[in-house]
Amino acid sequence: MPSSTLPERTIWLAKDGWSVEILDQTRLPQSVEIVGLRTVSEVAAAILHMQVRGAPLIGVTAAYGMAIAMHGDASDNSIAAAYQELIRTRPTAVNLRWALDRMVAVLMPASTDRRRILAYSTAAEIAEADVATNHAIGVHGLKVIRKIMAARKSSGPLQVMTHCNAGRLATVEWGTATAPIYLAHRAGIPVHVWVSETRPRNQGASLTAWELVQAGVPLTVIADNSAGHLIQRGMVDMVIVGADRVTACGDAANKVGTYLKALAAGAHKVPFYVAFPESTIDWGIRDGITEIPIEQRASTEVTELRGISLVPPGVTARNDAFDVTPAKWITGLITEKGVCRASEAGLSRLFGRGTA
Ligand code: MRU
Repeated sequence: MPSSTLPERTIWLAKDGWSVEILDQTRLPQSVEIVGLRTVSEVAAAILHMQVRGAPLIGVTAAYGMAIAMHGDASDNSIAAAYQELIRTRPTAVNLRWALDRMVAVLMPASTDRRRILAYSTAAEIAEADVATNHAIGVHGLKVIRKIMAARKSSGPLQVMTHCNAGRLATVEWGTATAPIYLAHRAGIPVHVWVSETRPRNQGASLTAWELVQAGVPLTVIADNSAGHLIQRGMVDMVIVGADRVTACGDAANKVGTYLKALAAGAHKVPFYVAFPESTIDWGIRDGITEIPIEQRASTEVTELRGISLVPPGVTARNDAFDVTPAKWITGLITEKGVCRASEAGLSRLFGRGTA
């Protein structure tokens, strides 16, 4: 259903009080379309086909998927079946597992009579917490932006580079990497964002550019391959990206192409920050390269553009959707609890815990 008004959030309960509506991100930026989800299979398909995407939003959507399952059947079997169907949709973003585990922990001890109401209230809590968490990430990230702004020698706006979409569309509101940018813009700090297009699915060009335009933040889209060139020329003051899974030691998995930006930033001493909530931390793993599962997506996402083949007949492509940036290339981690070094000590000090 096309919409003439822009929804404030990316996911919400429908008027019937039990099904869920989402902003269909596969239709942006051409049209704003709202899609209703009424079954667990529809929720799983929306995540799999990336009508909703971005680690925090995937978690929130899955939580509502579990609530929809409880609406139809609140048995133990229904909880287990919904968990299995939802967990296998996207393997890298750990927020999916985090949200489903939280739902199961709340639902399993409850009587079947109580499960329906508990499921909806817990999913709503997860969604509300996402908004507050991202705002807190913004407040802490804004301090980083102010510091970098004060230390710069050049005039003009702060030049921030980002990758993929770690914006409000990847969350319920605010975004993670974009929250400090939005707060800086509102505070009157001049900011310009370099948005890398993010082949093959173009989340930067289609989604980040769209939401920055909505917010009135100046931006320029660049081809992914020009990021190193701009960094080398001194045209980037800082890089902020999101994350899909961060290890207890601070290695960060994010959209493929993030690692190359971190290498270029490191080579040219440009600060490189990763912004994410605690639900993105996988406390049970330490080494991102060997322990984070990397989603493999369809070859055709690379070989075709809107149905037109870019390669000779018979040629296939490898399509790793994420890469891992080791902690040593990350200047700092911006979280809802504050900013820390990308290290086990930094993360456990902020969150008051260690590895599992
Ligand atoms: O494949 P996607 O579009 O779900 O990937 C999204 C990203 O990589 C984001 O940068 C990440 O999820 C952080 S979202 C705040």
